[in-house]
Amino acid sequence: MALKVDEIIPVLVGEITNLRSGIEAREVGRVLEVGDGIARVFGLSSVMAGEMIEFTRTGIRGVAFNLEENSVGVIILGDYVGIREGDEVRSTGALLQVPVGEAMVGRVVDPLGNPLDGKGPIVTSHYRAVETMAPGVAGRQPVEVPLQTGIKAIDAMTPIGRGQRELIIGDRKTGKTAVALDTIINQKEFYGKPGEVICVYVAVGQKESTVAKVVESLREHGAMDYTIVVAASAAVAAPLQYYAPYAGCAMAEYFMYEYGKDTLCVYDDLSKQAAAYRQLSLLVRRPPGREAYPGDIFYAHSRLLERSAKLAERYVIVPTSADTSKVSDDWGVNNERNQKRASAETGKVYFGEPGKHEAAKDVKDWPEHKVARVWNSGGSLTALPLIETLEGEVSAYIPTNVISITDGQIYLVPDLFNAGIRPAIDVGISVSRVGGKAQTPAMKSVAGGLRLDLASFRELEAFAQLGTDLDKATQNLLDRGYRMVEILKQGQFRPMNVFDQVMIIFAGTRGYLDTVPIRQVLAWQDQFLRFMHAQHADVVKELLRDKKLTDDIQKRLREAITAFGPQFKPV
Ligand SMILES: Nc1ncnc2c1ncn2[C@@H]1O[C@H](COP(=O)(O)OP(=O)(O)OP(=O)(O)O)[C@@H](O)[C@H]1O
Ligand SMILES: [Mg+2]
Repeated sequence: MALKVDEIIPVLVGEITNLRSGIEAREVGRVLEVGDGIARVFGLSSVMAGEMIEFTRTGIRGVAFNLEENSVGVIILGDYVGIREGDEVRSTGALLQVPVGEAMVGRVVDPLGNPLDGKGPIVTSHYRAVETMAPGVAGRQPVEVPLQTGIKAIDAMTPIGRGQRELIIGDRKTGKTAVALDTIINQKEFYGKPGEVICVYVAVGQKESTVAKVVESLREHGAMDYTIVVAASAAVAAPLQYYAPYAGCAMAEYFMYEYGKDTLCVYDDLSKQAAAYRQLSLLVRRPPGREAYPGDIFYAHSRLLERSAKLAERYVIVPTSADTSKVSDDWGVNNERNQKRASAETGKVYFGEPGKHEAAKDVKDWPEHKVARVWNSGGSLTALPLIETLEGEVSAYIPTNVISITDGQIYLVPDLFNAGIRPAIDVGISVSRVGGKAQTPAMKSVAGGLRLDLASFRELEAFAQLGTDLDKATQNLLDRGYRMVEILKQGQFRPMNVFDQVMIIFAGTRGYLDTVPIRQVLAWQDQFLRFMHAQHADVVKELLRDKKLTDDIQKRLREAITAFGPQFKPV
């Protein structure tokens, strides 16, 4: 093949102008003093805040945390015992980043992405900055798909939507971790199907044995197939505990931004992360504020939780024959003026809900074309932060902060927990501010009745304890309430499909359990659900398909419940 001179010249010119010499300048400094996981370093005068620093002799990394007039406060990510005064340090020019990608799924890693599970190195070529900007308003869209927790009390009364932030708050040993784990385990139902949820469980400041138990139960229930565990136990240095939630968030974000997937992040728990941050800040002599926390602790939590989002979907106009599963941003056939785009122009991309309407209007000028969603748009990151309170004190500094950042909270109370009402959710004060819009219609129609039953029950419960003679109507309300409380009890690791929940709550709120002895309610539930799946699979199937309690379904459900009544065998 003959070479054409005028083709080669631009290539050569391009190469020459893009030529960079192989020398890269890096600043080098020295450690002035070191202790408690912090090093004061001299000589890194142009380092960025948050930049990764390398201690050359030991290979340990650190982060430039405090930029002072003559020195830099570096927090050491790893074992600081080997670092000595006078050691050389280098800036890296990069912000702190962690490995991300498919290879992380199923693994247990530390906050820097190093494996902790002894299953060999993690091979991935993708990295993501630990701290990134949260998407802005235009980059988001309303939450409208439910995130099923599989827990009756939550899915019915404080439903969570994909992209929402729901706080789980309570004293120690009230079942906070259990709620989060059951939610992760319940996502197994969607694994490998459209609507799959990638989960990240971040353990901060817990005992290593507790983390090991969590990993074990996730593995046992098949949840490690789609879960990443990021562990910074109480034994590791405070900087790692502080960065763990951001690192876990970055790992989830990768799936949300690059693949448009739904993700779930559990931060267990943010009180311990706040304590780690307080420790760090005091060591670098930042001024302490309320409860000795640094003034920016609110910002630390808000910038983490703001990163959870339901991203706006993007749409383009493509020929009808286009493969919808592969559509990308550059497939659009029209330009901003809705004319055929020239080859040098970029096609029009429509953003979010307003964009969808605009695209629907524009496509009318394009016969044999359709509006298609860009395949990797519209991902979500749901956050479940956990906060531990002391003696139910929710008005302490960290709890109030996080309550104000999240879209609702689930309160777990020791009194209920000890009385055997588990999950120990106080339904009276737990709320979810956005999830209701995402709730399945069938669930929405039964949950209203449940709320009413429980509210009237709470009002009357005190009377019942006085042992006074009650009139018939009051007694009926009480009986119903006791049974609803019973229905909402649920063992750990037993998440329930949302339509099973609908059927049992329907039976309860319509009074079919009023005559069942209280102790038998859960047995009745199990036998009834088995009966429905075996004998009335058509009802179950239709519920699954339509997701609505139509009049016809209600009628058939009532008939089925009546037919089941005599078959119940008390245990
Ligand atoms: N729904 C449930 N049914 C039965 N047991 C439960 C339930 N939820 C939690 N438990 C049990 O209660 C104990 C405490 O639960 P868990 O560890 O989830 O609480 P926690 O609030 O996370 O505690 P910590 O303060 O130690 O983090 C565990 O032994 C757990 O197995
Ligand atoms: Mg816990």
